Amino acid sequence: MPFARKDGALCANEVPLAAIAAAAGTPTYVYSWPDVARRYRHTASALRAQAHRICYAVKANANLAVLARFATLGAGWDVVSGGELERVLRAGGDPAKAVFSGVGKSTADIDFALKCGIDCLNVESASELRRIEARAALLGRRARIAIRVNPDVDAGTHPHIATGLKESKFGVAPAEAAALYRQAHRAEHLQIVGIGCHIGSQIQAPAPYLAALDALLALADSLAADGIAFSHVNLGGGFGVRYRPGEKPLDLRALGQRVAAAFAARPGPPPTLLVEPGRSLVAAAGVLLAKVEYLKPGPGPGQPGFAVVDAAMNDLLRPALYQAWHRVQAVKAVGRWQQWHIVGPVCESADCLARSRRLALAEGSLLAIADAGAYGFTQSSNYNGRPRAAEVLVDRDSFAVVRRRETAADLWRLERTV
Ligand code: LLP
Repeated sequence: MPFARKDGALCANEVPLAAIAAAAGTPTYVYSWPDVARRYRHTASALRAQAHRICYAVKANANLAVLARFATLGAGWDVVSGGELERVLRAGGDPAKAVFSGVGKSTADIDFALKCGIDCLNVESASELRRIEARAALLGRRARIAIRVNPDVDAGTHPHIATGLKESKFGVAPAEAAALYRQAHRAEHLQIVGIGCHIGSQIQAPAPYLAALDALLALADSLAADGIAFSHVNLGGGFGVRYRPGEKPLDLRALGQRVAAAFAARPGPPPTLLVEPGRSLVAAAGVLLAKVEYLKPGPGPGQPGFAVVDAAMNDLLRPALYQAWHRVQAVKAVGRWQQWHIVGPVCESADCLARSRRLALAEGSLLAIADAGAYGFTQSSNYNGRPRAAEVLVDRDSFAVVRRRETAADLWRLERTV
């Protein structure tokens, strides 16, 4: 448990969260590096029955200190923009272990990826394939590609984060993917290296992955007769975690074993399995630390009151955008236990971080909003003129501010009056 109580006070590993708030202020994201590393090792161990590469999905948490530490673990990378790729390079990550997905790669993105020697561009349309081929020809290179297949499987997740249904904008249907592979096979400036998919996020059961794998392998089989072979099969990310009691994290070990069995049942050398987990590596390793500014009574007796905190939907968008549930704890319980809505200062009714939570609070209390290490800071904004939060990385008994809190001047740095 990266966040546990010692003498009643909530700590990140050995460091009291109150000490971090005193040094860095609030709101602040706090990440436990030992917990991230443990989750990475667990993932590697669950997949050890086959050659594999963990391509960390940078979008989940892109702080340079986090990326630099992933690089020391030998991680690969899943990026979806030139900006994410630049971050990976800046953090010392190896582009030869990076894959690049996304339906809208710009010409600049493609050129940058080709020049820095990325392992694979995951192609999401016929037009994109044509553009990649043209850019590679112009640059005198051979672009390494995979087609992102849309296998039309229901991942059983929130509609905003399901990506593997045929109605979604992502990937190409198997029949079209086959045609694109045949076209790519003939192209001088394209090199087919893999086949992949990403069917959604926060997926709790192996079944949708296995259905997607079946679709990918069937397609691979149909292309073998044309002499098209794949050195990797990419199952994407989306491994579910437990936010609420009763939710079940994805059984990665079971999935790994099924994939290994499917690979072993095929003729020829097995491909390398690529996975692109983001959330499952970092979500539970982070909290958003906030301070209660005001306590405000509810509309009537027995109704939850409002705990107005200094973090808001601009800091953590998930509750407003996906009705996501995050556990909330007081860093130190004080006073009477009662029900509170945890709300932020932003002028939107959607700015409610958590509803009806039983907590013992006073004005000035610190709260830890749990499981905020993924898609927390990376989805934050400056809405309502709010400087973005600081980020702190904890390693056992020490911590460091790895992104300072923004100031008002940071917010208008790029603007000018005319
Ligand atoms: N690979 C691709 C191509 C992706 O689009 C994504 C996530 C991942 C990997 C990583 O998925 P993960 O393992 O983190 O589930 N903002 C949402 C999640 C959006 C996910 C977008 N794509 C949330 O806060 O729940």
